[in-house]
Amino acid sequence: MVRLGTVCWLALLGSSLAFGRIDREEISDYLGVPMMTHGRNVSYDIPDPDLPEISQWLIGNPNRINLGRIGLKYKGDTLAASQITEPRQELDLWTGVIKSIFKVDGSLVKVTTRGDFETDAVTFDIESKLVRSGDLKVELDFPYPPIHTTKYKYEVFTGVYDFPSNHTTSIVPERLPGSAHIYHEMQETSYFVNLGWPLTSPLKLSRDEPEGSDKLNAHRYTLASAWSSSTISFTARFSPEKEHADLPLLVKARNLIGWEKYWSEGGFVDLTSSSNPNATELQRRIVQSQYHVQVNSASKGQTPQESGLMNNGWYGKFHMEMVVWHAAHWATWGRQKHFDAIFPEVYETLLPSSLARAKAMGWEGARWPKMTELITGRSSPGGINGLLLWQQPHPMYLAELAYQSKPTRETLKRWDRVLSATADYMASYAWENGTTGKYDLGPPSYGVTENTPPAETRNLAYEIAYWRYGLDVAREWKKKLHERVPEKWTTVAENLALPPQVDGLYAVYDGLNSSWWEDPKLTSDPRSLIMMQGILPNTPAVDPEVALRTADKVWDIWGDARIRGWGRPVLAINSARIGNPERAIYHLTAYDYWIFDDAGFAVRGGAGGTPPPFMPGNAGFLYAVAYMAAGWRGSQSDTPGFPNDGSWVVRHEGLLKAP
Ligand SMILES: *[C@@H]1O[C@H](CO)[C@@H](O)[C@H](O)[C@H]1NC(C)=O
Ligand SMILES: *[C@@H]1O[C@H](CO)[C@@H](O)[C@H](O)[C@H]1NC(C)=O
Ligand SMILES: *[C@@H]1O[C@H](CO)[C@@H](O)[C@H](O)[C@H]1NC(C)=O
Ligand SMILES: *[C@@H]1O[C@H](CO)[C@@H](O)[C@H](O)[C@H]1NC(C)=O
Ligand SMILES: *[C@@H]1O[C@H](CO)[C@@H](O)[C@H](O)[C@H]1NC(C)=O
Repeated sequence: MVRLGTVCWLALLGSSLAFGRIDREEISDYLGVPMMTHGRNVSYDIPDPDLPEISQWLIGNPNRINLGRIGLKYKGDTLAASQITEPRQELDLWTGVIKSIFKVDGSLVKVTTRGDFETDAVTFDIESKLVRSGDLKVELDFPYPPIHTTKYKYEVFTGVYDFPSNHTTSIVPERLPGSAHIYHEMQETSYFVNLGWPLTSPLKLSRDEPEGSDKLNAHRYTLASAWSSSTISFTARFSPEKEHADLPLLVKARNLIGWEKYWSEGGFVDLTSSSNPNATELQRRIVQSQYHVQVNSASKGQTPQESGLMNNGWYGKFHMEMVVWHAAHWATWGRQKHFDAIFPEVYETLLPSSLARAKAMGWEGARWPKMTELITGRSSPGGINGLLLWQQPHPMYLAELAYQSKPTRETLKRWDRVLSATADYMASYAWENGTTGKYDLGPPSYGVTENTPPAETRNLAYEIAYWRYGLDVAREWKKKLHERVPEKWTTVAENLALPPQVDGLYAVYDGLNSSWWEDPKLTSDPRSLIMMQGILPNTPAVDPEVALRTADKVWDIWGDARIRGWGRPVLAINSARIGNPERAIYHLTAYDYWIFDDAGFAVRGGAGGTPPPFMPGNAGFLYAVAYMAAGWRGSQSDTPGFPNDGSWVVRHEGLLKAP
């Protein structure tokens, strides 16, 4: 299933590599772009037209790299796909083992591949009489970044070999038997590939070309059996420092235990007793999505980038407005350990830079970045990036998920600093409107769907409701801690403008009239209105009757062909919440529109982007499935998101309700 032929592409990505230079402009020159904001100039993280190069450099990364290629060499040359016959490849989801079986010149070759649970390592067992004869060896190669520009938003990793003189590799002397190291240096970026093998079947590492060679294979290495054994077994561990690579047997043991634990511990949804013919595909998607999130999203201290570890989409950075879609499922699927490995740590790491950002812009508290990385915490400049609002209240939503699984004082204390800084910002960002006496958000602002005119966008419906929800959670948490609730939080929460309505339906932002339902720019993606109920928990800001009418209207106008990305999960969640399980299951089973490929990767759809994975698709899907099966706070019946027509038999265990 994983497309790992004889060549294993390792896309272990550095998301914020330093290398790349700007000659004429200095990073320190960039100060953002001022925009009038309620009577004062505020500098937003928007590309500066006077500093185009540095702006783009801050957005992108000139040198996204593929750390290395590990494949096979046959009779002295890279084994080509055309030399392979009768290939068969299977991934065993339960053990995380990939078995590749194929023939080369009529001889059988078996390759077993495993990833390590503890280090950035993979192990391979290669078995063939071609290994014994010395014809089949392992090849390692080190490419150069494929596209040397900051402009390229999406990257599929293959690397290029055309610039051998622009980087160096070398074998690092090592006396310890059973190990070897290769050092790779590209300007300011360097790392090691640490190799380890059992003493009982020794290997020998050599480089194909002398150091300093300018041939295309200058950075190619060969790992071969030192005896005439029919197997090659080794671990390759990638790391910034020279390290020890654990033996294949140890990695294998950890891999087995790790996967068994993963599958045994979390929640599960079993649809196999359902007579509905759509159940089988839904079950496939559930199981494979769980596999993919473990591989791509079980991270520490950050959420994954959109295209996981495979490709490098959207500049390879992670996006703070997407963290709920990437990681909330860990909590409702009973895998709190993974949730807690990310939150609130990612916010704590970004807190100092976010406090500084708010201060520089004239607000209190912490203004979270949009597209970012952990080293600088900088919010990558962008016309939309700089003005997006909805990442700000996420900590409150996530804190509620944390508290549900562990309702203790310790949880309250753990999140307090982050929630307080978030609420301080949200309260100070809201603007008291002298005419209405209410607190407004923006302008300028951008909402979830990024399709309104920012300089005129005030009181985005979803965002202002989310602001209310967030401030209310922050207030409740202070009360649970028996601490004083800052007055400003209460004043703003209780006096925020209500989400705008036109003719008894919610409207995307304030100032629209009913003709907006005919404006294709806005109706091509009206998901923010759907998000007001379901993904947004109950809040006094949202009138359930208006939300229900709005959901029905959106059903009428937002057609299948235009729903993409994480649209389906949010629609399924909303449909379940408004008591329409038929519609919820429709969205989850709209297989002709919402494609999961043969490996179970959700396809994003729409123009642009990298090939799958699109992790918010798989992770958002899981979140929706748990929502439909276990329900949400206050839901009454079991499996409230599945139709009660007898064709769905939903057995589940270990799931938690959503907020
Ligand atoms: C805001 O900043 C811009 C650019 O620096 C400047 O041209 C403009 O005069 C400023 N406006 C005010 C009201 O300060
Ligand atoms: C490789 O290095 C040469 C010499 O410094 C430079 O001119 C060239 O642009 C570099 N190529 C790439 C792709 O970075
Ligand atoms: C205050 O609210 C009113 C009514 O929504 C609106 O027309 C006006 O533009 C707002 N004022 C400012 C300064 O945003
Ligand atoms: C409704 O909004 C549209 C678009 O902004 C505008 O062109 C139109 O004049 C408005 N209609 C009324 C009756 O205000
Ligand atoms: C299967 O799903 C599709 C898409 O939601 C739907 O049109 C079809 O009616 C479903 N089949 C059954 C038997 O429910």
